[in-house]
Amino acid sequence: MKLPKAVTLVEVGPRDGLQNEAYFVPTDQKIELIHRLSETGLKRIEITSFVHPKAIPQLQDSEEVIKTVQRKPGIVYSTLVPNEKGLERALAADVEEIGLFVSASEIHNQRNVRMSIADSLKGFRNMAVKALAHGIRMRGYVVTAFGCPYEGRIAPEKVEFIIKEYKGLGVHEIALGDTTGMANPVMVSRMVERIKPQLGVTGLALHFHDTRGAALANVLSALQGGVTVFDGAIGGLGGCPYAQGASGNVATEDLVNMLEEMGIETGIDLQKLIDCAKYAGEVIGKGLPGHLIHSGKTCWEGIKPD
Ligand code: COA
Ligand code: ZN
Repeated sequence: MKLPKAVTLVEVGPRDGLQNEAYFVPTDQKIELIHRLSETGLKRIEITSFVHPKAIPQLQDSEEVIKTVQRKPGIVYSTLVPNEKGLERALAADVEEIGLFVSASEIHNQRNVRMSIADSLKGFRNMAVKALAHGIRMRGYVVTAFGCPYEGRIAPEKVEFIIKEYKGLGVHEIALGDTTGMANPVMVSRMVERIKPQLGVTGLALHFHDTRGAALANVLSALQGGVTVFDGAIGGLGGCPYAQGASGNVATEDLVNMLEEMGIETGIDLQKLIDCAKYAGEVIGKGLPGHLIHSGKTCWEGIKPD
């Protein structure tokens, strides 16, 4: 099996994970979670969103979170930004990286950001010029890239169109989101093979939700296609409030376990990550779907009898 030697994981739990939780996590606990995640070896953490507080009440404290988090050197802390107003807030907060997002599905984009795809992309053009002038790097998300709960199948041409637009804006990476867990390994492989030649120097990341239990299988398929950046959310937290039936991202600790067991380096301390996942569960006051929280690390030495 041909696999990469190392991969980079992007922790999106504090943003994608928390945004769907009805219980408001106190700001100091969000910050504590980010601090603990910063000690695990993760190099990229998406910590909040500059979206409308009414759209995502959970992340209404984004300014406070960014201001208070002690940014550890060597880690990129990013935030999601939907429009010009969000970018202004990101500039004021002095973030290093922003995540632009647009859906490949017209209906989902309309529900999510109350704009057409064309209007989202039009807005990004001015934003990109400003962001780059301030030295902020941009990740471009293609939301519902593999399927949409409203529109069903998404033609790959729609994804390719957005990729082309993002490349024109100067994003450093494009993240294809399987927002409601509709992808399967064959679909992932076909998509990766299809778009790889179009990416050039732009990086490709995959963002799987585990709604139907296929996320790790999808990661394996993408690895075989040469993808080396994957998103995960601690404990499997997550969802999208504007996509019916959405559930959490693949649990980052499950991802680290699978990758490391396969001999692929992540640079992450799995035990510390499992402890973070347990903390995330305490913070939101409910059991999380991640597997490693329950099973612990794989123990090849066997358990010694007492
Ligand atoms: N942050 C804070 N306030 C914002 C904002 C932002 N990024 N964008 C717009 N606003 C404010 C405007 O200033 C305006 O305020 P006012 O009424 O006091 O003048 C008001 O919101 C309406 O502005 P408008 O541009 O018409 O926004 P909208 O109501 O159409 O909402 C979004 C558009 C994009 C801001 C909103 O739909 C949103 O935040 N969606 C995010 C959804 C999300 O995060 N989904 C999960 C990620 S996949
Ligand atoms: Zn997501």
